[in-house]
Amino acid sequence: MSVCIQTSTDLAGKKILLGITGGIAAYKCAELVRLLKKSGADVLVGMTDAATRFVTPLTFQALSGHPVAVDAWNPDQGNGMHHIDLTRTADLMVVAPASADFLAKIAQGRADDLLSTLVLARDCPLAVAPAMNRQMWSNPATQRNVAQLRADGISIWGPASGAQACGETGEGRMQEACELLEQIIAALTPKVLAGQRMVMTVGPTFEPLDPVRGITNRSSGQMGYAMARAFGQAGAEVTLVSGPVNLATPLGVRRIDVESAAEMRQAVMREIGNATVFVGVAAVADYRPVNVAEHKLKKTESESAQRGRTIELTTNPDILAEVAALPAAPFCVGFAAESQHLDEYAEAKRRRKKLPLMIGNLVADGLGTTDNQVTLYDDAGRHPLPLLHKADLAKRLVEELAKRLNAAA
Ligand code: PMT
Repeated sequence: MSVCIQTSTDLAGKKILLGITGGIAAYKCAELVRLLKKSGADVLVGMTDAATRFVTPLTFQALSGHPVAVDAWNPDQGNGMHHIDLTRTADLMVVAPASADFLAKIAQGRADDLLSTLVLARDCPLAVAPAMNRQMWSNPATQRNVAQLRADGISIWGPASGAQACGETGEGRMQEACELLEQIIAALTPKVLAGQRMVMTVGPTFEPLDPVRGITNRSSGQMGYAMARAFGQAGAEVTLVSGPVNLATPLGVRRIDVESAAEMRQAVMREIGNATVFVGVAAVADYRPVNVAEHKLKKTESESAQRGRTIELTTNPDILAEVAALPAAPFCVGFAAESQHLDEYAEAKRRRKKLPLMIGNLVADGLGTTDNQVTLYDDAGRHPLPLLHKADLAKRLVEELAKRLNAAA
């Protein structure tokens, strides 16, 4: 399941028409409207009569800041063309929850209330988030209707599987508000990375000393996960090879969990064959202990141990350098975190590893933080970007990468 990683610019300038039909999952839409507003969207809400029995229109009016459309026969509406007007300015219409009855109705093209009329009269894309009892969902009639809607170009989001309000367990739960938000952002993001297959390394590595201890670093994974999310939303197929982090996998991203640099290398080499882009965001340990004890190392009282203990280290494989040296290497992007002399060290690393693009950041700016300030290094020189929230920075990096991939094509 995904977690809400959002910024106030994700949906800036976008207008979402949210249709709510009669189902207990309607309560989740209060949170969805709040998240949409927080992401910068303008939200208009339309409800069926049945939906108003679960949550009142007043709730959505308060959250969206607009009157809620329920009645097709509202005489207060200027020219009486409410069903047309509401859709004309929307960038996207989402029906959530979409009941079995509503799916059947719109699969047939019927328009006997305001919401179904809006669906028929719209000139923007439509997505539906089904919510119903598992038996109703698997009923051949519902599946037939869903297949028809797909064929009509309507996106079907979910349903998820799990415990249902009726007490049964199975497929038919509406997706959570956060997941719907992610779907909406992805649906409205230009697909500038469509066709790209990306492998990314992210997070720290952990090099064991014994079953309890190991050598690791302060990378939180936030930079890499924000980039994976933004790349996926921009249409890329993303595989994350992730060191140990405490972060949720972005929607639609494939994740392979690893611990040590050796495991990370093995996973990357398995996945890289088909990739068009490789991005090394991971803070990979340069060294690992030569000996890994089978049992917990005990504190000894010997005289030599009193003076301290020496850990012998050996060099880890350089994954990025190895990928960049492949005969049919993908477009390789490296990261360099430095505590000083950023320009000099980052550019030197770029040249040594023969990369078209290196992204440099100071440790104080980017390691373990929510914001970051990076400088891009390529054959044309250095290109500093402003200090940004990592989610916003990731969107800037989508543009920067797309520009370079187009130029290299
Ligand atoms: O995870 P966060 O808290 O959000 O922090 C993000 C970050 C600071 C970790 C990230 O922005 C970053 O800079 N990552 C690279 C860290 C680093 O210093 O890498 P490096 O200089 O050791 O390596 C240079 C490049 O080679 C990196 O792309 C690295 O992934 C890669 N490398 C390094 C060593 C190795 N054995 N294999 C590699 O692939």
